[in-house]
Amino acid sequence: MKKQDVAVVFGTRPEAVKMAPLVHALRASRYLKPVVIVTAQHREMLDQMLRIFDIVPDYDLDLMRPNQGLSELTARLTLSLDDVLKEVKPRAMLVQGDTTSVLAASLVAFYHRIPVGHVEAGLRTRDMRNPFPEEMNRVLTGRLADWHFAPTRSAVDNLLEEGVRADSVFMTGNTVIDALLEARKKPEAAARAVAPGRRMVLVTTHRRENFGEPLANICLAVRQLLEANSDLDVLFPVHPNPNVSAVVHAVLSGHPRVTLCEPLDYLSFISAMDAAYFVMSDSGGVQEEAPALGKPVLVLREETERAEAISFGVAELVGTDTSRIVQRAQNLLSSGEDYRQMATGASPFGDGHAAGRIVSILERSLSGNTSSEQGLLQMET
Ligand code: UD1
Ligand code: UDP
Repeated sequence: MKKQDVAVVFGTRPEAVKMAPLVHALRASRYLKPVVIVTAQHREMLDQMLRIFDIVPDYDLDLMRPNQGLSELTARLTLSLDDVLKEVKPRAMLVQGDTTSVLAASLVAFYHRIPVGHVEAGLRTRDMRNPFPEEMNRVLTGRLADWHFAPTRSAVDNLLEEGVRADSVFMTGNTVIDALLEARKKPEAAARAVAPGRRMVLVTTHRRENFGEPLANICLAVRQLLEANSDLDVLFPVHPNPNVSAVVHAVLSGHPRVTLCEPLDYLSFISAMDAAYFVMSDSGGVQEEAPALGKPVLVLREETERAEAISFGVAELVGTDTSRIVQRAQNLLSSGEDYRQMATGASPFGDGHAAGRIVSILERSLSGNTSSEQGLLQMET
């Protein structure tokens, strides 16, 4: 039997991590096969991931431009994706998350009457401007999608509350955990060494709503923490967005105990998370991964759509005010008990089998047999 094409569209670093398990699962399917279309909204950071996950795209739109604007990027995405979909006519398309690539791809698929599966559906802060523009991107993609692959119970509930048809919502877990568990089998992902008697804190930032003063405040907090704790080292892989790198370098470069480096490849980044005492980040994916490695996360944002990490007690929302960040980080550095309570390894985001579930659902739906999918909603989180 000829396998049916499923377009897998992604463009940024986190989408690549979370889509890679799906590409692998589709390759193993007896009925479906992946057609990988990368928008290359990111370039070097995407290529790092493609290499690690052994993915050679069928189409590479090569769309990244330095300091690209949202409207400009959206326009180029829609036109280029339209050209590809005139050529490939997949049975379905998978998109993941909340980036501009996701929204544009879902919209163009809709115009081509190609059904869309939204991976990591249903996360919400309920503030359309926070994260910006991602909350809106995710909500709009939800309107365009035909299958909603929600990672957790609360993501399922968010979708049902918005009136999404229950038979199109599936609780699958998050593919980020599939990727993490697989990657951890590789020796390069083993925890990097930290010198005896020293503690390392890993920091990442990149969110648009933190550009400018909030980001400068975060960097000042890092500086103050270093000054107050002589046993502390900071590893800070700097996102290449010029709005991020300029501020981070202005406030932190030259400090003897901060390492500002290029983005780490995925295995090196896992190794750094594993070695860290704790993590401070405004990243979505890092909020999901670090708890699974038993590392507390201080979330450098005013709101999060990953509320489960907060309610499980493995992450804390600390915002972007310098003194609050310093106070909460100092608490983790000083109080063994508070630290232990956050470093439990509890992982609310999945069990490592999300991609297999998603591919099974697609296989059944595309063959017209939709029985037994409801069982997924029983999965515990
Ligand atoms: C994008 C996503 C964000 C996601 C983040 C993950 C949108 C609107 N934003 O934000 O949701 O959390 O990716 O990292 O979709 N750049 C490089 N090399 C790269 C990647 C980026 O130089 O490999 C620089 C370029 O100057 C580029 C800029 O960063 O123009 C911004 O990239 P863009 O994808 O538009 O936004 P991010 O801030 O990376
Ligand atoms: N990551 C990485 N190298 C780094 C920083 C992050 O490989 O130097 C990975 C991280 O493990 C996670 C993903 O990139 O899987 C998160 O991407 P990012 O923070 O850029 O985006 P978000 O998740 O916030 O959308």
